[in-house]
Amino acid sequence: MSGAALGLLVAAGAGERLGVGVAKAFVEVAGQPLLAHAARALASAERIDALVVVVAGEDVERAGKALAEAGVQVRAVVQGGVERHESVARGLEALGADDSVVAVHDAARPLATSALVSRTVGALVDPWAAVAPALPVVDTLKLADDAGRVIRTVDRRGVWAVQTPQVFPVDVLRSAHARIDARGLTDDLALVERAGGRVRLVEGEHTNVKVTYPDDLELVAALLAARAGGQR
Ligand code: CTP
Ligand code: MG
Repeated sequence: MSGAALGLLVAAGAGERLGVGVAKAFVEVAGQPLLAHAARALASAERIDALVVVVAGEDVERAGKALAEAGVQVRAVVQGGVERHESVARGLEALGADDSVVAVHDAARPLATSALVSRTVGALVDPWAAVAPALPVVDTLKLADDAGRVIRTVDRRGVWAVQTPQVFPVDVLRSAHARIDARGLTDDLALVERAGGRVRLVEGEHTNVKVTYPDDLELVAALLAARAGGQR
């Protein structure tokens, strides 16, 4: 089904849990904003044709400049919405008639490798309606209340932690966004699942971490430093 995909990078979140007073996508690690790291990761993949980037309205110009400085070519930078699914929907509106496959990636994941991106895009073959990288959960899972009182242990067999990029035929993702109530859903696979599409997981990467809390930034900085060291 797919040769290559349009990369849709969503970067319009506020980063409330990070709590640094700057939009998360513009927080710098190793001298560059997360947005630039994530955009480069996507754009450098063999199976990505072009990039559309979604940021908060007030950041459209700034994002364009940051991406140009980082040497990443983008087709368009567009304004996102209040919830992630609204930002994805806005990005989908900016796609052209020639775009048949889309890879939706979070700017909060700056370390996805180009190999992972291409492998995920390549796995979108008939009859799948969506593909995403994921890893089996390794920690023991507990259900607990707000006070930390454990209710029970949850069986982790068959439980996966899902990453981005998530890859779809454009028409499948568009119609899922149009038909399904996305409130409370935190990824695009969930929309396609609810719409009845067949969703497939491929092996993710342990280093494809998501920046959510301040400690995650330190981890990303250390991993970037290790990669830079490896190239010397
Ligand atoms: N995102 C987006 N538009 C939104 C909300 C989120 O484009 N309205 C993007 C974020 O920029 C991020 C990805 O979706 O790249 C995953 O979201 P998350 O990690 O939750 O980021 P934030 O929403 O920014 O963080 P928080 O929930 O802590 O505010
Ligand atoms: Mg969020």
